[in-house]
Amino acid sequence: MSISNINFRDLEPGEFIECFLKTRRETIKILKIFRSNLGSELRIPNLKEVNLPIWEFCHVAWFHERWIVRNTRCSFDKSHDLAVDWASFCSNKTHFKGADSFLDSSKIEHDVRWDCKLPTFYETLDYLKKISDAVIEKFKKNLPQTNETFYFYKLSLAHEMMHLEAFKMTAQILNFEIPGLKRKFLSIDFSSESSFLSFNEQTISPYYENYAFHFDNEIFNGETVIKPFKIQSSCVNLKSFFEFLLSDDFFNASFWSTEGKKWLTTNFYKKSFYRNIKKEFKKITDLNSDFVKVKWFGKDENLHLNLPALHVSFFEAEAYAKWAGMRLPTELEWLLASQNTNFHWGSVWEWTSNTFSEFPEFIPHPYKDYSKPWFDGRHKTVKGASFATCANFRNLHFRNFYKPNRTDVFTGFRTACFV
Ligand SMILES: [Fe+2]
Repeated sequence: MSISNINFRDLEPGEFIECFLKTRRETIKILKIFRSNLGSELRIPNLKEVNLPIWEFCHVAWFHERWIVRNTRCSFDKSHDLAVDWASFCSNKTHFKGADSFLDSSKIEHDVRWDCKLPTFYETLDYLKKISDAVIEKFKKNLPQTNETFYFYKLSLAHEMMHLEAFKMTAQILNFEIPGLKRKFLSIDFSSESSFLSFNEQTISPYYENYAFHFDNEIFNGETVIKPFKIQSSCVNLKSFFEFLLSDDFFNASFWSTEGKKWLTTNFYKKSFYRNIKKEFKKITDLNSDFVKVKWFGKDENLHLNLPALHVSFFEAEAYAKWAGMRLPTELEWLLASQNTNFHWGSVWEWTSNTFSEFPEFIPHPYKDYSKPWFDGRHKTVKGASFATCANFRNLHFRNFYKPNRTDVFTGFRTACFV
């Protein structure tokens, strides 16, 4: 089997290095693309949704250094190791003196990163390469054969893959291209008609225990009853979304939640990916072709109207669903529906109606800030994957989360309703 078809969770020891090196090559390729677009030290203004690029590339290397290279107890058993003080098993020896004080995302706030003295481009490149060698050396020495001894290798690899998608979002916001990436979206097969899939009442467990790796927020002992519902087999496409956007109903307050209304009045014309379409066209019939022109990754792009709507905020998705007489699916409805072979997913992330929250008996895993700080009631659970997600990362059980006002994420949605 090609390495691209193997989920990072299920990598065998003999497959890890190939997958790790493939991921690292992509990180370095993107670092170089950033440099050619942003200049030698990748400086950008302080933007809320975006990380300072040089900090983020160093942080990716630091994470591997922290949890693998410096980790003197490089094994995690989720049944027995939940009370371990991981800080006491971390060697102080770091590549950059004081690395923890400026590369640990838990310790250093987003805005402060702009004021730090950060490594140069060449120091960053060197750091990524040295840590990559050190990870492989430790892996070869330890040759992890169990889920426990493999845990930190998979965690750090997954962390790098997540940042890889974040770099792609950053490029989109900062108006430059990642060569080959747009094509992955533009060539999506949208020929199958969206239909409704119906489900009877049934019980489901959100937790799939057979994976060899889990994030802390996925663990759930028990089952939940799902009431009968129906759900769209595909995501809402641009054409359908524009029928709402370009109708007189769009600003009708009755379709928007209280928070959504606030976003609509204060942020729609500043932040919506579709603000220019709303300004340019007065009604859906003004769009007299199958394509719409948008500025995407810094260039004009003609998007076919049958492509899924993306860069949609949660508020816009929620209002569309209400306007269509539907609602957003819950994360468990989404998961249950995904078992159906006619359920199409993976071209854009999908908003669910759930506020991101912990399952009962949640206990944080060693990287404590992975989920816990975000159970703050201010994030929505997002399911699926996007065209920009690493092939080795896509997984039905993964629980992603974003703030509902985000429009930089490659996120769309589908609708559902009770039956
Ligand atoms: Fe991170």
